[in-house]
Amino acid sequence: MNAAIRSVARVAIDLGMEVLGIRRGFLGLTEGQFELLDSRSVSGIIRQGGTMLGTARSRFFRTEEGQRLALQRLRDRQVDGLVVIGGDGSLHGAQALHRLGFPVIGVPATIDNDISGTLMAIGVDTALNTAVEAIDRIKDTASAHNRAFVVEVMGRNSGYLALMAAMASGAELALVPEIDVPLERVLTEMRNSYARGKTHFIVVVAEGARIKAKDLADYISQDGHSDRYEARLTVLGHVQRGGSPSAFDRILATRMGAAAVERLKQGFSAEMVVLRDGDMWGIPLEEVLSTPRTLDPRLYGLSNILAT
Ligand code: F6P
Repeated sequence: MNAAIRSVARVAIDLGMEVLGIRRGFLGLTEGQFELLDSRSVSGIIRQGGTMLGTARSRFFRTEEGQRLALQRLRDRQVDGLVVIGGDGSLHGAQALHRLGFPVIGVPATIDNDISGTLMAIGVDTALNTAVEAIDRIKDTASAHNRAFVVEVMGRNSGYLALMAAMASGAELALVPEIDVPLERVLTEMRNSYARGKTHFIVVVAEGARIKAKDLADYISQDGHSDRYEARLTVLGHVQRGGSPSAFDRILATRMGAAAVERLKQGFSAEMVVLRDGDMWGIPLEEVLSTPRTLDPRLYGLSNILAT
């Protein structure tokens, strides 16, 4: 998100605009926490994880009173347009401000990659690289000790991170919310893996999957189930959310931030910038928020074939 903030600030300044950063997201907006950003104030942040402006989940902003106060704060500071960087909740907030008549452009940023319309959101690639590196390391122990590892990754209700982490790390199975796999099939896959001469069995479980990672690890560990491998559980948790962003994320965020400013300048509103066909586009927020993102079942099939 820092790379996006840097890009928004510098591109807008280049276009002759004055830029205000808002601290702590919509919560900070309702409190009037504005900060003048110049080119120097965004120096050195492109390689830092998180956001220099901070963020917060705000219940108050979800109320009409909160949204009207936010609008008032923007008008008091004579702000002409707002770039909102964030996931589903932030984009809904952006749409609420648009409905009150304020020009907004959304920039998708969430490790879950659960926002429709864009190939990738900011943060996904970095989180994925972190998860893959962790699974690679886990695999060393798994192979050395003949173990089954259940690795839980984030993603909220989306299986994207889990499936891609499984594919990129060569894990034996992925469990995702979008595709139901019976518990018994996990055992069958595990036994087949062993029969094929594998020295480990790694299952990547999305936090939103029907079968929970801890339950699966307990199930594999039950007497008679883990006759081939010992089972262990690793929950990757918030390590996936931090760290220096990948080059892909820095470039994506830079391009999206720039596109958001350009769209605002051209008079567009209630759009989200997207990466599509290798280029930046703006699509209506309404469309983004009313279209659930689906997981391509062909990728799930491919991951299974490659795990043999
Ligand atoms: O939406 C991003 C995400 O990291 C999800 O993958 C996860 O479920 C959630 O946020 C964690 O939220 P929190 O940091 O509030 O626990």
